[in-house]
Amino acid sequence: MHFEVTPSRVHSASVVVPGDKSISHRALMLGSIAEGRSEVSGFLAGEDCLATLAAMRELGVDIQQPSATEMSIEGVGLYGLKAPARDLDLGNSGTAMRLMAGLMSGQRFSSVLKGDASLSGRPMGRIITPLTKMGAAIESECDGTPPLQVSGGLQLSGIHYDLPMASAQVKSAILLAGLYADGTTSLTEPAITRDHTERMLGSMGVAVATVSGRISLAGGQKLQACTVKVPADLSSAAFVILAALLAENAEVCIPSVGVNPTRSGVIDILQSMGADIVLENPQLLGEEPVADIRVRSSRLNGGIVDPNLVSLAIDEFPVLFVAAAAASGRTEFSGIGELRVKESDRIAAMSEGLRLLGITVDETADGAVIYGGQFGGGTVQSHGDHRIAMSLALAGSVASDRVIVEDVAAVDTSFPGFCESMYSMGADIRPVSEKLG
Ligand code: S3P
Repeated sequence: MHFEVTPSRVHSASVVVPGDKSISHRALMLGSIAEGRSEVSGFLAGEDCLATLAAMRELGVDIQQPSATEMSIEGVGLYGLKAPARDLDLGNSGTAMRLMAGLMSGQRFSSVLKGDASLSGRPMGRIITPLTKMGAAIESECDGTPPLQVSGGLQLSGIHYDLPMASAQVKSAILLAGLYADGTTSLTEPAITRDHTERMLGSMGVAVATVSGRISLAGGQKLQACTVKVPADLSSAAFVILAALLAENAEVCIPSVGVNPTRSGVIDILQSMGADIVLENPQLLGEEPVADIRVRSSRLNGGIVDPNLVSLAIDEFPVLFVAAAAASGRTEFSGIGELRVKESDRIAAMSEGLRLLGITVDETADGAVIYGGQFGGGTVQSHGDHRIAMSLALAGSVASDRVIVEDVAAVDTSFPGFCESMYSMGADIRPVSEKLG
């Protein structure tokens, strides 16, 4: 499938975006090992979270789905999961793979975690190292990449671990394993990362302490079922925000978006570039801060993107590259080397795509310098990466000519209904299933 993007005029609108991917994964996993029934609303029915749903069902958890975005999870308690009859297929999802590795390390049975071609190339040494220190046994078939064989029946011990990279997935894998460990598990991270795991554990009655940057929990704590209202995903809203910013004279409102400060770096970065973005009706949805986001079309200026904001905006750099390409002057990104091990090498994929559309990009080892200009037409590759596909489609919507983005099926992993949402604000991005040419 490819996108055919026709330059179009974005107009004022109110645009609803689907539920948060990170929180939806966690609701399924934590709800499954809680005691009692957890009700989830606003769930992201995207392929990544559906892979986690299938995995939890394979582990014997009764999860009803009264509608696409609602889940009713009959928690089985910490030790109630059942040995799976087959390998757990986590599709394209790094979050599912890494968090499940932590969860499976504490079980009495063994399991195999596998994924698609993209996930099978992603580094798992980052979780294998700390989990092994805790007493887990995880074998990778190929040089630290999936499939992973996780041995069951091993008693884990709490450790202290200083994370070498800023990664909420690694942090969460350790905390999940820590629930099954003797004693206390603690960690530090080199930069603050999304804290959805800590917040949700807290709302399920688990004491997670964060003191002077040290996050810790005692093993053996039971989780109590709870109600989870999943906010709209800021990472998906980012595409709508940029479309509104790049329009002429549009005002777009996106209701009830998660604006957890460990996730909201994209707003700070865009505001530093001159974006008119206002958060209205701030409130708490359970443990998570949400707000309605109001965006007015703005002239963006380049500059140096604050490296301190990188871990707070880690998934938004593809869309920020498009913002930089549409801004006036030069924008410098550094400290984003982690982008090279996402669903694709996002620095390389975006640099290639933007260049094909006529933008000057100097790629560096851990970043890029982008010179603002006018997007031209052309055919670009997503490299099978949902965020690259959506970012380049957005560039196409303000290009001087038609843009084709190839290989876009992965958009359904995080933002089902992307084209419809874009269309509701006037952007003409059409999914086309036939073969090109
Ligand atoms: C996520 C953490 C981030 C992010 C990913 C979701 C999570 O990955 O890129 O999309 O839900 O914990 P890293 O932990 O690899 O930075």
